[in-house]
Amino acid sequence: MVPSEAQDALCDWYTRTARRLPWRETRDPYAILVSEIMLQQTQAERVVPKYEAFLQQFPTVASLAAASPAEVIRAWAGLGYNRRALNLQRTCAAIAERHGGVVPSSVEELQALPGIGPYTAGAVACFAYEQDVAFADVNIRRVIHRVAVGPDVPQRLVSERELETIAQAALPPGCGYVWNQGLMELGATLCKARSAACQSCPVRRWCRATGQIQTLLAGLSRSANGERVPFERTSRFARGRIIEALRVADDPGLTEAELLRWLEAMSPTVDLQQVPAHLQALVREGMVEAVDHPVGVFEESPSYDGTTPRRRVRYRLPVS
Ligand code: ADE
Repeated sequence: MVPSEAQDALCDWYTRTARRLPWRETRDPYAILVSEIMLQQTQAERVVPKYEAFLQQFPTVASLAAASPAEVIRAWAGLGYNRRALNLQRTCAAIAERHGGVVPSSVEELQALPGIGPYTAGAVACFAYEQDVAFADVNIRRVIHRVAVGPDVPQRLVSERELETIAQAALPPGCGYVWNQGLMELGATLCKARSAACQSCPVRRWCRATGQIQTLLAGLSRSANGERVPFERTSRFARGRIIEALRVADDPGLTEAELLRWLEAMSPTVDLQQVPAHLQALVREGMVEAVDHPVGVFEESPSYDGTTPRRRVRYRLPVS
């Protein structure tokens, strides 16, 4: 699906041009783990100084495990989502207890740790232990979709599961580290959610989105009468915010009512009327899972407009 010439071209481009970022200069699994958790919510350039200061203060698994939660939250200041800092500390406590302070190398053992999902487990196995593991954050998903399937807008053409299978098959054996870093680099610099610099892309010759994606992205942010719509008012933005809310909510997910309240507080430009339709589309595309739960098991909070919720359904990101 991704020809070997394209694999070589991406790896070569990464090796020649990638940004020098401190977590790319180390194979210390603890440092990589810290970087991956920080990078889940913040852009690389903003993470760099925080990452360096954090590792100065907590240089090892043991030092972070032994710190007070207040110290950890203080060191996390500016990165947001403090719960991630506390989860990281819990992860380190479990590594200290179960693995003698050594971050395990297998995806299975990593995923068995509290707070470590498939993405982080794959990233640590690959970036610290140089294993050929496929894993995908939003950037990798987008790049793989465009290169191997086609344009991802106005909507994705394959389900989340199909995309994972494609990502797995696309990984060149023996080059997992450079390949995965290359996909991330491409997603962060040229092949972005709202713009695609196809003319500078190392894999444009093999990409199934080249030639269409730029036009499609330009059209996305125009209304039916051709006027430019601020990105914060587009469906794409709303869908991104829904995913973000569900990512932060983690395992139990959110009811529609809870999601609406979160969006109202966190993303006031989102048109709340459209949210049920976005949710249904995201479920159809496999990006979001709708989980029914028996009435009475969970305390149902009042719905956004004060009426009884229509469905006792929680929405969450797919677990695997
Ligand atoms: N985002 C997540 N992991 C990253 C990495 N290793 N380099 C750059 N951005 C990232």
